[in-house]
Amino acid sequence: METEIRNSYGMPVLISKQEIEKKVSELAELINQDYRGREISIIGTLKGCFVFTADLLRNLRVPVKVDFIEVSSYGHEKTSSGVVRINKDIQGSLENEHVLLIEDIVDTGHTLNYLLDYLRLRRPASLKVISLLLKEKKQRLKKPIDYFGFAIEDQFVVGYGMDFRGRFRELDHIALLEEENQDSLFF
Ligand code: IMP
Repeated sequence: METEIRNSYGMPVLISKQEIEKKVSELAELINQDYRGREISIIGTLKGCFVFTADLLRNLRVPVKVDFIEVSSYGHEKTSSGVVRINKDIQGSLENEHVLLIEDIVDTGHTLNYLLDYLRLRRPASLKVISLLLKEKKQRLKKPIDYFGFAIEDQFVVGYGMDFRGRFRELDHIALLEEENQDSLFF
C-alpha cells in the first residue's frame, strides 16, 4: 500500500516538486517544438500562475514577451460563478502576435472562456492555452486546452502559486486542501 506523504501543514501531497519539474520541462519541450522560429507573447493569469510561468519560461528556447492579466471570478470562495472582472489588464496590442495564455488551473472553465473571448478581440495571429492543472470533469470549455500538465479530480488544491484565502502559494508542491482540515489551518 502506498504511504501518503503529508506536508508541513499536514496536507496530503498530491503532486511532488520533482513531478512538477519533470512535467514543466516536458511541456516546455512541446512548446519549443511548436513555436520554433516564432516569438511567443505570453500572458500569465494572476495571481496563481506566477510560479508556473517563471518555471516554464526558464525552460523555453524560443523568444518571448511576457505580460500578466489579473482577473477575479465571483461566487463562493472555492467555486467560480462565471462573473469575471479584470483587475489588471495587459499593456500593448497583441495584433498579429502568437499569444500563449498561461493558467494555473482550469476548473469550470468560466475564467478561461472569458479570457479567450477577451484576447480574441485583440486579433492575435494565434491564441493557445496552457494550464498546469485541469479539473477534467467540470469543464465547460469553448475551445480545448492546447497543453496541460495534470488532470485532477474535482478537489481543491493549493501550492505552487495556488492559494486558499491568499495562503499556501509558497509551497513547492501541490497539496490537497481537505475539507475537514480547513479550520485547523487558520492562524
Ligand atoms: P474556473 O473559472 O472555474 O475555471 O476557475 C479558475 C480559477 O479558480 C483558477 O484560475 C483559480 O484561481 C481558481 N481555482 C479553481 N480551482 C482551484 C483550486 O483547486 N485551487 C486554487 N484555486 C482554484
